[in-house]
Amino acid sequence: MCGIVGYLGPRPAVPILVQGLERLEYRGYDSAGIAVLEGGGLLVEKRAGKLAALKSHLNGNMAGAQVGIGHTRWATHGRPSDVNAHPHLDCTGRIAVVHNGIIENYQELRQELAAKGHRFISETDTEVLAHLVEEFYAGDLLQAVFKMLPVLRGSYALAVMSADHPRELVGARQDSPLIVGLAAGETYLASDIPALLPYTRDNYILENGEVAWITPGEVTVYDANGSRKSKEVFHVAWDLQAAEKGGYAHFMLKEIHEQPRALRDTLAGRLKDDGRVRLEGVNFTPEEAAALEKVAIIACGTAHYAGMVGKYLLEKLLRLPVEDDVASEFRYREPILNEHTLGLVISQSGETADTLASLREAKKAGAQVLAITNVVGSSVAREADHVIYTWAGPEIAVASTKAYLTQVASLYLLALHLGEKRSHAPWAQEIAGGLKDLPDQVEEVLKLEPRIKELAGRIAPHEHAFFIGRGLDYPVSLEGSLKLKEISYLHAEAYAAGELKHGTLALIEEGTPVIALATQAQLLEKMLSNIKEVKARGAWVLALTQEGNTAVTEEADAVLYLPPVPSILAPAVTVVPLQLLAYYTAVARGCDVDKPRNLAKSVTVE
Ligand code: M6R
Repeated sequence: MCGIVGYLGPRPAVPILVQGLERLEYRGYDSAGIAVLEGGGLLVEKRAGKLAALKSHLNGNMAGAQVGIGHTRWATHGRPSDVNAHPHLDCTGRIAVVHNGIIENYQELRQELAAKGHRFISETDTEVLAHLVEEFYAGDLLQAVFKMLPVLRGSYALAVMSADHPRELVGARQDSPLIVGLAAGETYLASDIPALLPYTRDNYILENGEVAWITPGEVTVYDANGSRKSKEVFHVAWDLQAAEKGGYAHFMLKEIHEQPRALRDTLAGRLKDDGRVRLEGVNFTPEEAAALEKVAIIACGTAHYAGMVGKYLLEKLLRLPVEDDVASEFRYREPILNEHTLGLVISQSGETADTLASLREAKKAGAQVLAITNVVGSSVAREADHVIYTWAGPEIAVASTKAYLTQVASLYLLALHLGEKRSHAPWAQEIAGGLKDLPDQVEEVLKLEPRIKELAGRIAPHEHAFFIGRGLDYPVSLEGSLKLKEISYLHAEAYAAGELKHGTLALIEEGTPVIALATQAQLLEKMLSNIKEVKARGAWVLALTQEGNTAVTEEADAVLYLPPVPSILAPAVTVVPLQLLAYYTAVARGCDVDKPRNLAKSVTVE
């Protein structure tokens, strides 16, 4: 996730671009840059680090420019650096591009363009776009963009400018947001509405496949076939705060709704039709993969619960022993590791102190370390031997949602990768096929929101709640209960459903909410007995299960039906209603959802 802006009009462009980027910094902040047209040529300034670094460098320069594009980056391809920052230029330095999204086939395109003599200077996928426009350019910028779009695979919102077309910008979108702002005599481009609120409340919201040709104060929108489209102006009535959250009441809710996109990005370009995966940043030889004797999963909090899902599925699929630890314990329990151990470290921020220290501990013991992280260039990413990036985009709410889901998706990708390298993955096609369906299935589950809000009203007045599940439902129960605790301050505990009768059952009273996860086909009967146990003690049971599991639905007081995902993939779907349940319970209890008391987003102390 990155932020892009563009301006074309009579006013100085630089302050408008910079202010727009300030408002988009929540979308990414590891580098920023702008390109403007001045004196007949393009001037580009870009800096690694937050926007402040670029701002102090600009220092009032380029004051005469009246057209430009800008970008604030959340690195995916290529570490955060000056050279990888956008905008990117073609070989002539007369075409500049900013881009939000992922060009899945950039490696093939880069090779083809390099063979034709194009020179690349960055590690990014975006740079191919500038060279493609150059390749297709024959005097008409808009036509060059039209010719480029069909060769792209992946997602993009992009803005293109050319020194040879000083009064034009071209924008295009596919699966990444892009709006065009309209005002008298001037036109804007941005990833999101807040960036433009100081200048205009009238926008065109571009849809997938649409291309906008922008001149001062005028916009023509085309569909993918190049036919003109008439569009309705969207007038924004929200205030700035609401606009930054995309109209959602909280960042957490926005991030929950971003999950289909986050999953698509994390899977994009990595999953092949035949069940094979390409994981850039993971470089096991077949010999190294075959020599692995154990996996040690290390993480904290939500990332640890994603890791527990990993334990179940790596053991099941790879028949490889897996241990999982919270990082704060791992370091001090003198774990037995050697060069045949894979240390698997999971961290959204990549900066969690205990996780980082455990990574170092594992390396010292001779283990290879693979990190799953959301932040390119983070400490964990830099120190690990292999990295899988979750392309969730910045997560702002303290309660982790889209990071968890993309961590789980990455664990499936890792299972596929190791299975392939170890030459035993008869399940690969089924898992790969199921993964492809996940973003749509998560979209389906999000439609349960109104019902979940009602159910949250039933839970909110209580002081205790329990989550139960078996098999892969158990780590998801743990994550559901953590979400509920951390934002609603309601005491919640998760139990492996078979464990209840060894103590916890004593806590169940008349009306106690019990959230029962029943998605694991082979464990349904056992789960049913556990539901009956709590019902017999007066519990109010909310069951999450697939449609058709009638015995479960007959026993429960309320049911949320999930799409028919295979049991092994269920953790990637079941968690979503639990996130919404925690969210609406917290709202009903009047809690500060995005900034829960006593907590911080990144825990860099032990
Ligand atoms: O950045 P990390 O993934 O390493 O953070 C680990 C935990 O602090 C984090 O997952 C925490 O539990 C979540 N904020 C809970 O929602």
